[in-house]
Amino acid sequence: MEGMSDDPDAEPDPSHRVIEPSVLYVGTPAYLVATRNPDGTPNLAPASSHFALSRTIVLGLEEGGRSLDNVRRHPELTVNFPSSSQWRHVERLARVTGRDPVPEEKAGTYEFEPRKFERADLTPVASDLVDVPRVAEAPLQLEARVRRITPATTGEFGMVEAEVVRVHAAREITVEGTDHLDPEAWHPLIYAYRHFFDRGSEVGWTWKTPFAAMPAAVDRWELSGGTWAVSHAGGGSATVDLLRCDGGELVERIRLSDPAELRWAAAQFANGEETP
Ligand SMILES: Cc1cc2nc3c(=O)[nH]c(=O)nc-3n(C[C@H](O)[C@H](O)[C@H](O)COP(=O)(O)O)c2cc1C
Repeated sequence: MEGMSDDPDAEPDPSHRVIEPSVLYVGTPAYLVATRNPDGTPNLAPASSHFALSRTIVLGLEEGGRSLDNVRRHPELTVNFPSSSQWRHVERLARVTGRDPVPEEKAGTYEFEPRKFERADLTPVASDLVDVPRVAEAPLQLEARVRRITPATTGEFGMVEAEVVRVHAAREITVEGTDHLDPEAWHPLIYAYRHFFDRGSEVGWTWKTPFAAMPAAVDRWELSGGTWAVSHAGGGSATVDLLRCDGGELVERIRLSDPAELRWAAAQFANGEETP
């Protein structure tokens, strides 16, 4: 029977169902991968399969597509992340391929398009270090050199490991005067189960964020031997009690309003303590 486990003695799980979804696109940012065609013109294709660690980005590109063929021949590419508001540009490329003739499995549903940038109503702009253009309108653009292509065990796609050699970010998604992307300002186009989404509002952060800072007064107090406790954090405000190191008496209560300090205060609770 549908949804039953192979084990006849298994208890049915009331909270979960066993399903066979057609795709496993849980929700990852979509990107536009630009590659170089044999005639030197650029190809551009939408994709979402990727992960990035350190300076390496790994893309999952299907076998039989123009993009994978292109990087096998010319090992350079650009990965262009559109913002959520730009989803229509991505969708304009969803039924075309740079392959001519159109591969059999796409015949009837896809058509050959040699001018992908024009089709998407996007502008190619020369890269600094690779011979493949970037998408001018994309807020985040990565120039990358392909280091290895590993065929998937199923033969369906290739895993393209590429070294990111330059990052271009629109000013409005960066923090001026730093090399940081502003996580609040950046709205990638999220692709989840064949639908596009904007991201929601911030719900948390990790301790490594550059945007959480211990208030200078608390830092000074700690250095001078005092102890402290965050007495409240939430709803856009926080308070820190500066305490005497001996008896723990309250010496001063500091109210925080700076966003980085509010994050720092809230993180004290995220790390195990209960909000009072
Ligand atoms: C939102 C979206 C995400 C996609 N993700 C991928 C992907 O991760 N990898 C891939 O190879 N194709 C992906 N595709 C499909 C390719 O874009 C499509 O097969 C296209 O024809 C490839 O073009 P090309 O043959 O010119 O490379 C995606 C398409 C869309 C619209």
